[in-house]
Amino acid sequence: MEKVFILDFGSQYTQLIARKVREAKVLSEIVPFNISVEEIKKHAPLGIILSGGPASVIGKKVPLPDTEIFKLGIPILGICYGMQAMAKLLGGVVDNSLKREYGRVKVFVDKEDHLFKDIPLEFICWMSHSDQVSKLPLGFKKIAHTKNSKIAAMADFKHRIYGVQFHPEVIHTQFGKKILNNFLKKICLSRGEWRISSFVNDSLVNIRQEVGENKVVLGLSGGVDSSVVAVLLHRAISEKLHCVFVDNGLLRKGEPEKIKAIFDKRLRMNIHYINAEHRFISKLKNVIDPEKKRKIIGEEFVNVFQETAKKIGDIKYLAQGTLYPDVVESLSAFGGPSAIIKTHHNVGGLPKKMKLKLVEPLRFLFKDEVRKIGKYLGLTEEMVYRHPFPGPGLAVRIIGEVTKTRLNILKEADAIIIEEIKKHGFYRKVWQAFAVLLPVKSVGVMGDERTYENVLAVRIVKSVDGMTADWVKMPHHIIELISNRIINEVRGVNRVVYDISSKPPATIEWE
Ligand code: XMP
Repeated sequence: MEKVFILDFGSQYTQLIARKVREAKVLSEIVPFNISVEEIKKHAPLGIILSGGPASVIGKKVPLPDTEIFKLGIPILGICYGMQAMAKLLGGVVDNSLKREYGRVKVFVDKEDHLFKDIPLEFICWMSHSDQVSKLPLGFKKIAHTKNSKIAAMADFKHRIYGVQFHPEVIHTQFGKKILNNFLKKICLSRGEWRISSFVNDSLVNIRQEVGENKVVLGLSGGVDSSVVAVLLHRAISEKLHCVFVDNGLLRKGEPEKIKAIFDKRLRMNIHYINAEHRFISKLKNVIDPEKKRKIIGEEFVNVFQETAKKIGDIKYLAQGTLYPDVVESLSAFGGPSAIIKTHHNVGGLPKKMKLKLVEPLRFLFKDEVRKIGKYLGLTEEMVYRHPFPGPGLAVRIIGEVTKTRLNILKEADAIIIEEIKKHGFYRKVWQAFAVLLPVKSVGVMGDERTYENVLAVRIVKSVDGMTADWVKMPHHIIELISNRIINEVRGVNRVVYDISSKPPATIEWE
């Protein structure tokens, strides 16, 4: 299989390069920057990309690749720090430029060759550097410049070695995708035959090799990530996979039934369904602090999970649907901080407590790639395009104490919102849509009766990654319909309000 090596100098964008290479349908492998030439030769990659990185080649402890890589005859593309490292090793000069470049900068192409083929002679790129190449190494030509960088891109055409000071992998670089594509197809001469199916096949082999005859346990939540991991692992190791589905009573209306129907009845997986509603709700009695709620739910989940795992017995591995954006810091090649998972997005503590080894087949993928894999593996559109749902579930959407009555009100209202936005074609267009039950009562009239009932907020947001979000300007007739239906159909609610706050400064969830 054709493959490209990405030598990692610790850039926050290294995984993004890998992702863009996958988009060009080429397999890539991220390897440490100091990988030996012998190791590279063994794998015979079609091309090598040197990533960016936080270091400076002018500094003392400088991470540099083995100089011999430039003699292998394999095409090389250095990006940002990668270009500077290349320049330094090959006899060029790198200076600490007085005029740093950060953000969007216009690039002027001086030499339209393979790398810049079919790209305008001027385009906007994304820069993030203070050092720059001030003198070319022998055999190199300048192929692009900017106002402040004499050499924004360089090439040794004979040896097919290229450097770009900007980041083609970043969305803000116009034609960035095309530039990487040109490197892969026109310079490395890749046929671009990598497919999702290749990822799946490789994963199946790797998972089987890794876990052997051992049992693997997985916490199935019904969300996209754990569902995709479940079907992938099931394909790899069939009944050796044990899925634990904890019904904590804080899930959406009809959710447990749906999950059982898909994973148990349709896919015939080994599902351990635990009805723990009572345990969770009694632990949440009198608790109103959001962080306390999260902690209690997290701990109780670990307890239930551990008890179930004990019953299954003899488990060595825990599978998790960790995705790349969950990994805050990438494993840096220089012994930097290892992967730290966003704590509040994880029911943490499990692997350590249970002394289990982790299986995380999606850890280098982005959400949209995981959805494609899910579809490829036969999950329905409904499953793979589900909105994100917080681990602590509806408990963080009931402001104040969580009780069975309040949960039922919220479940009914939530079901109406989802039904209506699906009916009106908005489900796939928005990031999340849900209800929040407020600890406020207001006066109303129904028929001739005065009512004094709950206020419920409807929240519908757009977002790309959940880090920032905008409230959705829904057509009035749809929110009107939602409001009418909730007030008429859900007992205990007589007023509906629409949340018009964006993130920041608000958050998506209310707690
Ligand atoms: P916030 O409210 O922080 O939410 O703007 C951002 C995204 O994260 C989800 N979220 C959570 N997910 N456990 C989770 O698994 C949590 O405790 C949690 N809190 C928020 C939220 O639904 C949104 O998609």
